[in-house]
Amino acid sequence: MKFPDSFIWGAATSAYQVEGAADEDGRGVSVWDVFCEKEGKILDGSNGKAACDQYHLMEEDVELMAEMGIQAYRFSLSWSRILPEGIGAVNQKGIDYYNRLIDCLLRHGIEPFVTLHHWDLPQTLQEKGGWMNPESVSWFGNFARIAAQAFSDRVKHFITFNEPQCFIGLGYYGDYHAPGLNCSMREAFLAAHHVLMAHGQAVKELRKYGKQPLQIGFAPAGKFTYPKTDSHKDVEAAKKMLTDILPLEEWWWSMTWWSDPIFLGKYPENVAEKYKDILPAATKEDIELISQPVDFIGQNIYDGRMVECGKDGEPFFTPEPLGFPHTHIKSPVTPEILYWMPKFLYERYQKPVVITENGMSNGDIVSADGKVHDGCRIAYVERYLSNLKRAVSEVPVKAYFHWSLIDNFEWAYGYQERFGLIYVDYPTQKRIIKDSGYWYRDVIASNGECLP
Ligand code: NOJ
Repeated sequence: MKFPDSFIWGAATSAYQVEGAADEDGRGVSVWDVFCEKEGKILDGSNGKAACDQYHLMEEDVELMAEMGIQAYRFSLSWSRILPEGIGAVNQKGIDYYNRLIDCLLRHGIEPFVTLHHWDLPQTLQEKGGWMNPESVSWFGNFARIAAQAFSDRVKHFITFNEPQCFIGLGYYGDYHAPGLNCSMREAFLAAHHVLMAHGQAVKELRKYGKQPLQIGFAPAGKFTYPKTDSHKDVEAAKKMLTDILPLEEWWWSMTWWSDPIFLGKYPENVAEKYKDILPAATKEDIELISQPVDFIGQNIYDGRMVECGKDGEPFFTPEPLGFPHTHIKSPVTPEILYWMPKFLYERYQKPVVITENGMSNGDIVSADGKVHDGCRIAYVERYLSNLKRAVSEVPVKAYFHWSLIDNFEWAYGYQERFGLIYVDYPTQKRIIKDSGYWYRDVIASNGECLP
């Protein structure tokens, strides 16, 4: 069995993690540039100033993508490369870079999927209050309009935000990611509300200024669940854990707090009731803006927790057996999640699903033969994609993006985690396609037929 003919096989990155050239051609400062300078925030004391230097090595990277047969590249725009102050004057050299990248991709038959915001807010806007400032809605709308005007003649797919859960949960409410505010929960709710409104504003601007009919989505994270068995009671238990229990424990990580307002036009009542004393007032107009129609539900999916139904009828997490596999970054390996989550997402939101990220970090080492034999990654992706294959036969899934195309700057972990299909030797910037990259080429060439 194959995937549908229209299925898109892609790979993903983000600007701050791969571009480098942080001080070149008029790029402004982002919150991540500032955060990396703070003592003790990045495990290996590094930053994204050079990263994998994709800014200069872009053509080589696109050629490597073509060699692997990759059909779509999801990358993000650096807001501060295009608008060094976040608003105001446009930096033409920033626009030129993305034009070169888009044109090069299209020359190689690779479809660009553009993410507008992957965590790197311009620092000048952070100094004005960042996402806590209600003006952030129009700042982001303005950026979306500029992106539509510059790129939408050739780019058809846009993603507004990547994982707002992380920059609000870890960066605003926490101090583990930029900008590291440690703000109150009331402030985090306010910032989250503005992010959702900014998403809606961006959708409006993209539609208005798009030079062709666009396909628009967003790419949240989330804490996910899957049932221990296919039985009705375990499946219902996993769903109850996903929507009724987890969001009450940590709303900022939830799927529902972020996706319900966009796709269902309302905040989930259980969370809204629990936090009613500290929620920002959301007007009817706010919700209308947030719930602008979008075309697909993007979802980054790495892992989830197994749930079963207890004797009392209540869901509980199945304990992990001894020796349960984990990736280098210590994420559990739970391939079933790529079967169950697309189904749960489609059932709740009734939109085609795009897996905007999935993949693993590995302790990759170059072998004596000069190659990278990352058998672990092949095992991981094969099992995840086999589950996706099952999902695709039941619900509409349009695309899969492997995270990542290339090893890169893994935020607070610096360069210690390697997620790429392509290995990077950072001191020389030499690239090596890993065994998993060649294996992925064969999966793409057979349109998934070779997957078990
Ligand atoms: C999610 C994020 O979008 C991406 O930036 C990150 O590198 C990967 N997951 C891996 O942690």
